[in-house]
Amino acid sequence: MQKQVYLQTYGCQMNERDSEEILGMLTAQGYGLVQREEEADVILLNTCSVRAHAEERAFGKMGLMQQLKQERPDLVLGILGCMAKAQREAIFRRLPQVDLVAGPAEIYDLPDLLAKIAEKRQREGLGVATRLMAVDRKVRPLDQKPAGDHRQGRVTAFVTIMEGCDKKCAYCIVPVTRGQEVSRPIGEILEEVQQLARAGFKQVMLLGQNVNSYGKRFPDGSGYQGPKRRERLLALEDDGREETPADSHDDGTRLCDFPVLLRQIDAETGIPWVKFTTSHPFDAHERLFRAMAECRSVCEFLHLPVQSGSDRLLRAMRRGYTVESYLAKVARLRELCPGISLSTDIIVGFPGETDEDFEATMALMERVRYDSAFIFKYSPRPGTEAAKWVDDVPRQVKEARNQAALALQARISREKLERWVGREIEVLLEERNRRGQLAGHTRGHLNVVCDGPDALIGELATVRVQRVTATTLIGVLA
Ligand code: 5AD
Ligand code: SF4
Repeated sequence: MQKQVYLQTYGCQMNERDSEEILGMLTAQGYGLVQREEEADVILLNTCSVRAHAEERAFGKMGLMQQLKQERPDLVLGILGCMAKAQREAIFRRLPQVDLVAGPAEIYDLPDLLAKIAEKRQREGLGVATRLMAVDRKVRPLDQKPAGDHRQGRVTAFVTIMEGCDKKCAYCIVPVTRGQEVSRPIGEILEEVQQLARAGFKQVMLLGQNVNSYGKRFPDGSGYQGPKRRERLLALEDDGREETPADSHDDGTRLCDFPVLLRQIDAETGIPWVKFTTSHPFDAHERLFRAMAECRSVCEFLHLPVQSGSDRLLRAMRRGYTVESYLAKVARLRELCPGISLSTDIIVGFPGETDEDFEATMALMERVRYDSAFIFKYSPRPGTEAAKWVDDVPRQVKEARNQAALALQARISREKLERWVGREIEVLLEERNRRGQLAGHTRGHLNVVCDGPDALIGELATVRVQRVTATTLIGVLA
């Protein structure tokens, strides 16, 4: 009989995309998909470790799944994603009924792992949980994606372009959970985007922990390796000199970095809109801004997490830039791409954050006037550098700073949205929302809702804006 899989996803868009790939792999192997745990033979949780709250939610859910498994010992219970990497021992300790853990670098091993569990059960009977741990991988073999895909939407598609993160931000668990950076060969990305465009998708969101370091390391060991080498290659290119064979890259050009990828997607794939996330400010520079300005399909939107407006904290966080250098990049970007939308991530309550540090963050938010911002209360993540420091900002202070930053951003967002009232704006209509309205995004990634027929889902439309909320433009079809 066909085995049924239930999969729940926590965390970021990278994880959502991983889940699409996982479901694709499993359906290609003959599994069916179900929306309810009770109907499943295999329950998978694709987890997130970025903040304590995300882990608590997943542990809660896993506890419930354990109970289900006690009633049904034939069930396979698997924990995937970032927690599976960061907390593998703790998972088996706290949840002895778990059969399988596999981190983000190991998702392509999943069909094999499930087959192993089935074999073992045939040999030894159900009884105890299998407690199978995927073999630890440093990087995901991005050039060996198994057959099958299961995309959620029909309008916007996520496309993974790189995995992992080589940075060492003091607060962040991602380098532990997602491993070393590796970029997908450019040919495979171009082919995928081309196919998506042909299938009628209107927008791709290119995904990576730090898309700006795309091309640093490919699975075959080539790549520009580091910012210094990238500069050297660019200098060679400027001089018109030949590179050595060791410098050559998949696409035959000297340097295959993120701006090159954007330009090729723009020139070769026919996809109407391209967005991407996330960009580390350290690696975002002139070359990127120029590519954004010059490629018609690349949308006027950049998510550029600043984390803090205090140089002292930026140094403690090991972010590799100062407020001044960050603002200079924003100014240059706005020069080249006038009207570009900016969003950011901010952490409040990082160890040692004083009132002055926090005020500096608020001042920076006022200065940049982001279109939107995600504000997070710091939580120590075991295994990170900052987890060794005293988490000394009291809970109430973190909460108060969180509220203050949210209120400030809500005011700025609304003011920026209000400028659109009475004007027309181009929107990609993506879905029908829970209220039955058409919902979509602008090129600047602003949310828009309006009434209209189903036939417009997946179409570009012009909307006349009538009013706004703190997060959304509301209008009518023009
Ligand atoms: N505590 C709070 N926020 C965090 N982030 C990453 N690690 C932590 C942490 N330990 C935030 C950062 C990052 C976003 C994805 O999550 O702002 O950009
Ligand atoms: Fe969560 Fe970060 Fe992992 Fe995404 S990469 S799932 S945000 S820990």
